[in-house]
Amino acid sequence: MSTQTKVLVTGAGGFIGSHLVTYLKERGYWVRGVDIKHPEFAESNADEFQILDLRDKENCMTATAGIDEVYALAADMGGMGFISAHHAQILYNNALINFHTLEAARQNKVKRYLYTSSACIYPEYLQTSENVTPLKEEDAYPAQPQDAYGWEKLMSEKLCEHYREDYGIETRIVRFHNIFGPLGTWEGGREKAPAAMCRKVATAKLESTNEVEIWGDGHQTRSFCYIDDCVVGLYKIMRSDYHKPLNLGQDRLISINELADMAAETAGINIVKKHIPGPQGVRGRNSDNNLLREVLNWEPEISLEEGFAITYKWIEEQVEEKLKTNTLV
Ligand code: NAD
Ligand code: GDD
Repeated sequence: MSTQTKVLVTGAGGFIGSHLVTYLKERGYWVRGVDIKHPEFAESNADEFQILDLRDKENCMTATAGIDEVYALAADMGGMGFISAHHAQILYNNALINFHTLEAARQNKVKRYLYTSSACIYPEYLQTSENVTPLKEEDAYPAQPQDAYGWEKLMSEKLCEHYREDYGIETRIVRFHNIFGPLGTWEGGREKAPAAMCRKVATAKLESTNEVEIWGDGHQTRSFCYIDDCVVGLYKIMRSDYHKPLNLGQDRLISINELADMAAETAGINIVKKHIPGPQGVRGRNSDNNLLREVLNWEPEISLEEGFAITYKWIEEQVEEKLKTNTLV
């Protein structure tokens, strides 16, 4: 009988999930990927890929059968354009996915379970300034997430905590801070700011215009973490013995205007920024990485410039392809 550890990645058809599957395969795991869709941009490296809707409990039982460890990434999610406009859908879908996946994992005697939460769980009242104080894990309470997306994440974090205490399943909780990279959503309304800036600048470049639209005044700030650091961090957290929530992100604060300038510099063009109304989310958000460093003796190390250059190149290729076929939305 094989002693190879069997891992389930939910959301394996998505951005982080597809990269994580590749990383786990490289480390010798047997991997089952589950999603409602196949990865959009590259074939999955999973040993087995099941198309299942994880809002359904029976499907969650199928997905977790025979599995030792689960990385729970499946979610109905996106950037500010999406999460500010679909509160009911997000809360309903994600609560069903997470409650059913964790309960099925318990019934199928899964040993370890990593849940992917978000910086969106942090209270709005701590994120009102561009020069925001980096958010520590303990800042989560008293809770006041801005959107339903954050409330659901907070509730599923609690569910993990209680399943660990009451049923002994080893749970891990990761709070991502805006992850970006190739093979991520870059158009269609669910894209986040890094991909949106790359798409808009690449389109301006390829269409020989120079105007780039930015939601708000562009002085709002965030930190951005490259995908390769994200999957390393996920793996380290899963293997650690730390069960409380941990930030996983970069702690370099940058404004959206600066991000657009970085895209323009990477593209080698001059742009004119046009500030337009749009969903802005919190005014500023940054990750406090002290606890992450203490627990893992590691933190994300790929510079924004390095990750952004790779991402820009990939998105420019996608835009070019769509322009050729006149299918850019
Ligand atoms: P993604 O949208 O690319 O991947 C999520 C995947 O879940 C998608 O492929 C989607 O089809 C799948 N999914 C949705 N509903 C499903 C269902 N009912 N059954 C099965 N699969 C379903 O997003 P991502 O960026 O890869 O995010 C992965 C996880 O990390 C999510 O839980 C997300 O909330 C969290 N997260 C991501 C970021 C980020 O910056 N990317 C930030 C914070 C939290
Ligand atoms: N998406 C997007 N597209 N954002 C833009 C654009 C644009 O064209 N122009 C300006 N922005 C601004 C938004 O108004 C917001 O202030 C900022 O860029 C960041 O937007 P997003 O990247 O979409 O989202 P976020 O950082 O507020 O939240 C994201 O990260 C969280 C984790 O840190 C979302 O993906 C959440 O779902 C995620 O949990």
